[in-house]
Amino acid sequence: MADAPSVVPEAHEHETYQPPEKMFAKHPSKPHIANLEEYQKLYKESITEPNKFWGRTARELLTWTRDFETVSAGSLADGDVKWFVEGQLNACYNAVDRHAYKDPNRVAIIYEADEVNDGRNVTYGELLRDVSKVAWVLKQAGIKKGDTVAIYMPMIPEAVVAILACVRIGAVHSVVFAGFSADALRDRVLDAKSRFVITSDEGKRGGKFIGTKKIVDDALKQCPDVSHVLVYRRTGADINMVPGRDLWWHEEVEKWPSYIAPEPMNSEDPLFLLYTSGSTGKPKGVMHTTAGYLLGAALTGKYVFDIHEGDRYFCGGDVGWITGHTYVVYSPLLLGVSTVVFEGTPAYPNFSRYWDIIEKHNITQFYVAPTALRLLKRAGDEHVRGNFKYLRTLGSVGEPIAAEVWKWYYEIVGKESAHVVDTYWQTETGSNVITPLAGITPMKPGSASLPFFGIEPAIIDPVSGEELHGNNVEGVLAFKQSWPSIARTVYGSHKRYLDTYLHVYKGYYFTGDGAARDHEGFYWIRGRVDDVVNVSGHRLSTAEIEAALIEHHSVAEAAVVGVSDELTGQAVNAFVALKDGNDANDALRKELVLQVRKSIGPFAAPKAVFIIGDLPKTRSGKIMRRILRKVLAGEEDQLGDVSTLSDPSVVDKIIATVHEAR
Ligand code: WTA
Repeated sequence: MADAPSVVPEAHEHETYQPPEKMFAKHPSKPHIANLEEYQKLYKESITEPNKFWGRTARELLTWTRDFETVSAGSLADGDVKWFVEGQLNACYNAVDRHAYKDPNRVAIIYEADEVNDGRNVTYGELLRDVSKVAWVLKQAGIKKGDTVAIYMPMIPEAVVAILACVRIGAVHSVVFAGFSADALRDRVLDAKSRFVITSDEGKRGGKFIGTKKIVDDALKQCPDVSHVLVYRRTGADINMVPGRDLWWHEEVEKWPSYIAPEPMNSEDPLFLLYTSGSTGKPKGVMHTTAGYLLGAALTGKYVFDIHEGDRYFCGGDVGWITGHTYVVYSPLLLGVSTVVFEGTPAYPNFSRYWDIIEKHNITQFYVAPTALRLLKRAGDEHVRGNFKYLRTLGSVGEPIAAEVWKWYYEIVGKESAHVVDTYWQTETGSNVITPLAGITPMKPGSASLPFFGIEPAIIDPVSGEELHGNNVEGVLAFKQSWPSIARTVYGSHKRYLDTYLHVYKGYYFTGDGAARDHEGFYWIRGRVDDVVNVSGHRLSTAEIEAALIEHHSVAEAAVVGVSDELTGQAVNAFVALKDGNDANDALRKELVLQVRKSIGPFAAPKAVFIIGDLPKTRSGKIMRRILRKVLAGEEDQLGDVSTLSDPSVVDKIIATVHEAR
């Protein structure tokens, strides 16, 4: 593990903002709970009588084909958590059918295409039909309950259709972010044993075309078990179709009826896999199961975002990441509201794109990562235009939000008439775990505030491993009891799941983040304490990038560290030592960047590559990344003890290389 936080708790004298009065003036009724006292009462119940709290909310928010008797079973210590054990339900039925029956013409998806006027709406009735047809296609191709289907799609309504078609027949979706390279896609298809892939001819983003089908073709060269690829025609590009393997979406759906019955699933049947980065090189297929995940998505939508019937919800996340899964797809659709599927970027055709969408569709909740806000703040306030008459909640996700960015969001975007919710959570937690509730929780810029229902945070001293009780403490963040949407395993490696999350501090779920609890019990997330870096809200493993660099024939060793970056939060910097006979030059540095783009994807590319003679290593051969981080931060005078290095003279050479490059 990398350097753990050892900061002495400081008093957090920060400004506190109350839920804005002007938000209530815009409200169609009022928030679902009355006030902070009611939150505290419900929170207490969720911790002291979790089965009562979760049993009630599960029956209230989800429609079951068979009721459950056992609300929860198993434990974090044993890694065998189960929720709503005997229950049966179908995720697609809950997200689509029940709303389509009530009100088929209600808008389910507001598609905002890359070009401003190319979008369209999809109603719940249409969604039910579209999903059913694709479910038929999967079924006819031999996909059965429990099979995994890989989805490699741009942000178009068909990505949502593909996801829901899988879960309608009990197949497990494994969405791979369409920014991943062919190699990364191949690894995920192989690891999940997917036999069916859904993609598009191309994607279109920020005016640029992305060759999704071509990437799939490259990836599948080494995936002999994939029998079919279903291709949605998005741009009409001339692409290669492999006879017998590749199927056109528009041709296939014509063949099948517009209804297929949803498959009743057990609560604990897998719903999806989503690959995420950790401390070691190989990405983990985080597995979520059906009922618990759905409940987390629905309940946080209701209370964190204050979603009400008739709302129009806009989450700018991509379906390739957990934010897109939970808050573009499941949460809004489970609650029967309209969700925006946005194909483009916040800067195309200009820096007003988000704000134009908010105004055009009368958006009620907006949810985005601070990296986009930093970009837009820097572009200038004049781009923030429009009348956000209905906007009540502004969410932030994925990385810490700096106080000045928070204030810009609240004042310039929200005009002090929307509640800012800084939501802390992870792929593994399934839904928001530390977060304000819109309309209820006082806000402190930069703090994710208070735990969501059922979440019992613990701050642990990373040195002693002991829990630190009371307020004004700082350490690493863990959770003491399970909650319904916690990931159940890592696909194919339950041991890795236990080792990473549950056996670091026995009896606790370990987040991998450092955090402080201030004098009022508010939480301040400090960032990862492991070898994970967060670049523009994308979670990357330094070990995975190092493994990619070492694949290059001239590289002997590599060390990757995250450095803070004004725009992207963190940026990847790489140090490499070459094999004998290779020379450091710009062409090689470019090749190394390309190597990472090829192995992982463009978003993981190092911002700087430093070629050095030797990495700083201890006598036992451990790379001291701390020294590299300090040099990059310009803190050469604070390197600490370098006498344990096998060759302390490398430090001066590293300092010289970094200075020379800048
Ligand atoms: C970070 C994204 C500070 C954190 C939903 C976590 C945050 C990792 C916040 C998970 C926040 C997420 N404030 N940091 N509000 N939200 N993080 O799995 O380091 O892609 O462990 O899930 O993002 O990233 P993941």
